Amino acid sequence: MRVLGIESSCDETGIAIYDTEKGLLAHRLFSQIAMHAEYGGVVPELASRDHIRKTLPLIEEVLSEAGLSRSDIDGIAYTAGPGLAGALLVGAAIGRSLAWALNIPALAINHMEGHLLSPLLETPSPAFPFVSLLVSGGHTLLVDVKGVGQYELLGESIDDAVGEAFDKTAKLLGMDYPGGPYLAAKAEQGIADRFVFPRPMTNRPGLDFSFSGLKTFAMNTWLDTKQTEQDKADIALAFQTAVVETLAIKCKRALKQTGHKRLVVAGGVSANKALRHKLDSMKGVEVFYPRQAFCSDNGAMIAFAGAMRHEAMKYQDVPSFTVRPRWP
Ligand code: KG4
Ligand code: ZN
Repeated sequence: MRVLGIESSCDETGIAIYDTEKGLLAHRLFSQIAMHAEYGGVVPELASRDHIRKTLPLIEEVLSEAGLSRSDIDGIAYTAGPGLAGALLVGAAIGRSLAWALNIPALAINHMEGHLLSPLLETPSPAFPFVSLLVSGGHTLLVDVKGVGQYELLGESIDDAVGEAFDKTAKLLGMDYPGGPYLAAKAEQGIADRFVFPRPMTNRPGLDFSFSGLKTFAMNTWLDTKQTEQDKADIALAFQTAVVETLAIKCKRALKQTGHKRLVVAGGVSANKALRHKLDSMKGVEVFYPRQAFCSDNGAMIAFAGAMRHEAMKYQDVPSFTVRPRWP
């Protein structure tokens, strides 16, 4: 089965074709980050308009790269949520219209399931069961994964997502949007242990997270300094270290609770080097990540999730355009 994937939930138009026998055939990504950076965050209306402009040309590009024509596609997977309503509707409208015209199934995919399954596109690929840590701009989730579609939520953030905390802290330190990667780069020049930030919610049982306090802690620390570049780097490092250690503590707890020996990490923040270094140093656990290019939003993970769902569950199509901006 060859599935065309369409990702348009936020500020990236991602298109890909996944073949269940041959693997990933082609993928393309257009990032709108430069356009939104001017406003310090994503402007939903501009995002929708840009997805409309980019989706069909990118579909033509992946078909041509894969040497295929439209009639070679057997299913269309699109992100139906969570995300920005208008942006999601672009992918849903185009995806469902194409599926209707070609008389093939349309597969409505949850964006977070796309991230969750994305490390399975790599070699070696993790076998089930595993614990999944999903760390993106909108979500921080720990999930017990027993198979495709068999997910049990173990814990989540009660306030800011990790990526959001990175971005907000970066913003208050004067960095551009999205600040996560800038903050991570700045932290490399930081002096360790000059500042020590709390590890939120680690001294009580459970697998939930809270990251909004770290941003306030960073703000108060910043206001207490002379605000030099070194101060900025030291705060960036202290913030990142606190986040990474908190995530690692909860991952260990989740692995112990489930008895699983594999940890799968995905979502935009899984690109973070310090996080990877920390998790890779855990004993007795195999850790899997997507390739760097597939940590953030992309069409490959949606095409893949569509193919996996179709194979595993004999997906039942629901003929509706409904998108779910807050799909849990
Ligand atoms: O998964 P993603 O592309 O979009 C969502 O689904 O939200 O994640 C984007 C998030 C942003 O908050 C971005 O700042 C963060 O991932 N991010 C990073 C790094 N690269 C991206 N955060 C920390 N360190 C990084 N290297
Ligand atoms: Zn995402």
